[in-house]
Amino acid sequence: MNGKDVIIALDFESAERALGFLDLFQDQERKPYVKIGMELYYAAGPDIVRRVRDRGHRVFLDLKLHDIPTTVRRAMRVLSDLGVDMCNVHAAGTAAMMEAAREGLTRPDGTCPLLLAVTQLTSTGEERMQKELLIGASLPETIAHYAENARSAGLDGVVCSPWEAGIVKEACGPQFLAVTPGIRFADAAADDQVRIATPARARELGSDYIVVGRPVTAAADPVAAYLKCMEEFVWNK
Ligand code: C5P
Repeated sequence: MNGKDVIIALDFESAERALGFLDLFQDQERKPYVKIGMELYYAAGPDIVRRVRDRGHRVFLDLKLHDIPTTVRRAMRVLSDLGVDMCNVHAAGTAAMMEAAREGLTRPDGTCPLLLAVTQLTSTGEERMQKELLIGASLPETIAHYAENARSAGLDGVVCSPWEAGIVKEACGPQFLAVTPGIRFADAAADDQVRIATPARARELGSDYIVVGRPVTAAADPVAAYLKCMEEFVWNK
């Protein structure tokens, strides 16, 4: 069985704000797993990854690469030196691109961060996917197919909504990871997310990791909100 964990999305516009937020967790014995996405990475550069890791956090670097295979292979080679624990590409970049990402990510000592593929963003509903992207298949079929492509290319799992974790496991097996954003507490607003679930529901649906942004970062008490996620998702209280 895969270990479950909660990943906090550090969606901040500067290193100062991100590190100030992490200061709130200084007294926590186990430092939260965090996600550094485009906003923070583009604002603060690779140094923010090192600074966050030096504080004892594991890092999911969420840059969602999508380019020709050679460019992705070379970019991944650079990112693998940052010592991140997890990173990702868009499955829409094709199996050849995902294989190139895997090759580029492997370090000289043979170690490799977990590599995931984004299936469809959790902000995209089926209607938009069909009308705007001209993908004729249903959302579940598309996700299962993208997940199978990712598994064949040697990836460790996919990013999908909690509601698709079961489809992914069915298509690719229980060890293939389902990392799921789109998490909201029962009484909260959805914001721009469409396919959402509570941490407890995500656990029932088979997620391995939940990615939680605004429900923790914008909470009046972020540590309490994080611990609530841990209670519901990891400790199953
Ligand atoms: O604030 P919220 O909980 O909606 O943040 C979700 C995070 O997960 C954001 O950083 C977003 O970029 C990311 N994400 C997502 N859907 C995906 C992949 C990543 O929402 N399919």
